[in-house]
Amino acid sequence: MCGIVGYVGPKKAQEVLLEGLKRLEYRGYDSAGIVTVSSGITQLRAKGKVAELEQKITDDNTNDGVGIGHTRWATHGEPSERNAHPHHVGDVYLVHNGIIENYKELKQQLAEYEFVSDTDTEVLAALIDSLYKREDVKLENAVTQALKLVEGTYGIAALSPKEPHKVVVARKGSPLIVGVGDGETLVASDAAALIAHTDNAIYLKDGELAVCTAGNVEVMNLDEQPVSAIVEKIETNLEAIEKQGYDHFLIKEIMEQPDTLRSTLSGRVVKEQGLLRLGGLNMNEEELRAVKNIFIVACGTASYAGQLASYYIEQFCDDVTIRNEVASELRYRSFNVPENSIAIFVSQSGETADTRACLQEMKSRGVRCLGIVNAVGSTIAREVDGGVYVHAGPEISVASTKAFTSQVSALVLVGLVMAQAKGVDQELVNQYIDEFDALPDELEKTLARHEEFQAIAKKYERYDNAIYMGRDTMFPVALEGALKLKETSYIHTEGQAAGELKHGSIALVDDRFFEVAFIDEHRLFEKTMSNVIEVNARGGHVLAITNSPRDIDAETVVRVESQLQLLTPLVLNVVSQLFAYYIAVARGNDVDQPRNLAKSVTVE
Ligand code: G6P
Repeated sequence: MCGIVGYVGPKKAQEVLLEGLKRLEYRGYDSAGIVTVSSGITQLRAKGKVAELEQKITDDNTNDGVGIGHTRWATHGEPSERNAHPHHVGDVYLVHNGIIENYKELKQQLAEYEFVSDTDTEVLAALIDSLYKREDVKLENAVTQALKLVEGTYGIAALSPKEPHKVVVARKGSPLIVGVGDGETLVASDAAALIAHTDNAIYLKDGELAVCTAGNVEVMNLDEQPVSAIVEKIETNLEAIEKQGYDHFLIKEIMEQPDTLRSTLSGRVVKEQGLLRLGGLNMNEEELRAVKNIFIVACGTASYAGQLASYYIEQFCDDVTIRNEVASELRYRSFNVPENSIAIFVSQSGETADTRACLQEMKSRGVRCLGIVNAVGSTIAREVDGGVYVHAGPEISVASTKAFTSQVSALVLVGLVMAQAKGVDQELVNQYIDEFDALPDELEKTLARHEEFQAIAKKYERYDNAIYMGRDTMFPVALEGALKLKETSYIHTEGQAAGELKHGSIALVDDRFFEVAFIDEHRLFEKTMSNVIEVNARGGHVLAITNSPRDIDAETVVRVESQLQLLTPLVLNVVSQLFAYYIAVARGNDVDQPRNLAKSVTVE
């Protein structure tokens, strides 16, 4: 979603900002803008991509030194230049991520202003300007006073030609990171925009504001009391956020899964000693043993990861009840939390607004909260009581792939550690340890067959509808596969429990549909086959993806030779990822940034 960048220092601000905005493009957006200030001020905005913005730069408008920039994912008002940030009101230029919920009331109180956009951000800019007009008020004072009147969420960066040497930033519910460079200060909503310049960063907390000048940062709270800020190392590098020879981030991230999974497992699964180690859970054996209920809360792909993992955890923690909850639903439901519950929040970005809201709700009820998070230093990672970083590295493609594999694995490890505390048979733990040990190589072997899957994708690329189905652990794989196909190819796709097909979706089977069936040799093979046969009987076009050596009556069969008994879903899932990728490419889509989608959904 929206992205913020800012710069104060000796370099050409415009260049630094544009480069930063390009690093944030992956998050999904529909307009962009920058403002730079030195002797004069230059504001440039454009609907569409950063490339359109770049075209507006001429020799006459390259101001140096200080500036802020933004990529906007439209919430209030259509994507247009008029609604693009920065918004300029009086002496204030402002970029903003999040939503100002009371903007209508504030707008009424700001009757002296004429508003030219449909945005809540312009109202906040006017509010800051109205306070900035008062005597002896500096930009940071006007910002703190304004933010005290605001309801909602924000990450903001503001500048003014009245004090052209500074950028003021603040956050509540939307990330804001200050990069501390040598004689220069950068700001961004995502570390990806900083690391070309510095790996020293201050992660602002909710309710904090920073005044950034060249090489200096002052952090304070909204009462303007100084806060001592910790400078941390950003744990990623430039290579990790570049395509490295691949055509798209999506294929790069699919192909790197053997390695990213090895990072997830590294030091946590110690095969020789039959050991599992998860230091970050911050739960002792007694606490683990006491757990009787687990809420797994997430959105999108992360929620399917939760669903898949719970099939495993239920098997080996047989005194535990698991509730998989989609965060956007849970947050508005009235629900009971039984005694001895914990909540696990699964999030690649660690910033998803609905997931965070549920985390806050659970914390307010005194529930122990764990995080399964990829983005190091992200809000959810900071707010939970403990958890596991999945260490899959930055995921740039909007469609999530490598994070899923790592999230499922990390969740299963959490379940196994709990099962050990509850006295599960070590034999079973050893079986999982062996399978995790073999899984990266199995993924590698399967991914190496990508050309074969590309040829199969060709057969199905012109269909407009698809049904994905599976049973047991293959059901969440079908849901995730359907999501991958629809979001990248724009083919209308439904994910189904194979047994549910005859309760509705089978009515759709005709020549305009194809059906993908995930069939597990070791779990409910015959049952799933019976569903395939029912589809065949109605003229369906079935693509079966399976680890079974048996004869399968389907239009196309992709057979994966796997030694695994338990973790095969993760292997079949990479076939489905590649299939979606190749179809999306063949259809000429923007596979890394599919239309209307955002990588990190920071508004509800
Ligand atoms: C967005 C992304 C998905 C992701 C979901 C949850 O919809 O496009 O790829 O699965 O958000 O995001 P999270 O960062 O919480 O895992």
